[in-house]
Amino acid sequence: MKPTTLDLFADAEPEQDRRREQIGEQSYVLRGYALPWLTRLLPALETVLATAPFRQMVTPGGFTMSVALSSCGTWGWTTDRSGYRYTREDPRTGLPWPPMPEVFLQLAQAAAREAGFADFVPDSCLINRYVPGAKMSLHQDKDEKSYAAPIVSVSLGLPAMFLFGGFARSDKSQRVPLLHGDIVVWGGVDRLRYHGVLPIKDGYHPRLGKQRINFTFRTAR
Ligand code: SIN
Ligand code: FE2
Repeated sequence: MKPTTLDLFADAEPEQDRRREQIGEQSYVLRGYALPWLTRLLPALETVLATAPFRQMVTPGGFTMSVALSSCGTWGWTTDRSGYRYTREDPRTGLPWPPMPEVFLQLAQAAAREAGFADFVPDSCLINRYVPGAKMSLHQDKDEKSYAAPIVSVSLGLPAMFLFGGFARSDKSQRVPLLHGDIVVWGGVDRLRYHGVLPIKDGYHPRLGKQRINFTFRTAR
């Protein structure tokens, strides 16, 4: 077969338009934004998970979350019977959460800037792992000390249907399909919007297998 220039990109991610879609006054989906970062992002993720593996946590109400969690950065979000909070230590080991890899920080800052939030300095990255059937109920991110900084949320692996709601749980939600490499950024007047994820459909992602991984960057303190 005659080689074509396309062969040069045989190992690259399938082309996805790098578009910016507005989903709220200060909320955007950056389509495919994380794709060029993956060769640095995935090995860094492995390093974090070697120290702080995914685990399922229990809510204050006593339910085991379907999503498994890990964290990196100065502060890690945790939940148990006594409540939701940020801790400096991984409750599993009592050791500090692994540091936030430089490439995580750079990607989060670049994405925030792209959505109009310059000077984002996240001190926490929650890492969510969804297997098919796992979901995240509608909630607000409100355990942070200040709401001045945006939320930057990176999607990898299996597709998800993201729910982007209003300021009351009962407000109607937009359904936003999220694919491998998409990043959602919301902040400013939209910072406290309800959001969640519908149960992940069964499937197999060529790069990540039977799972969806989400990074949620925040300024906790
Ligand atoms: C979250 O709100 O913590 C996760 C959102 C997502 O998985 O897209
Ligand atoms: Fe959230």
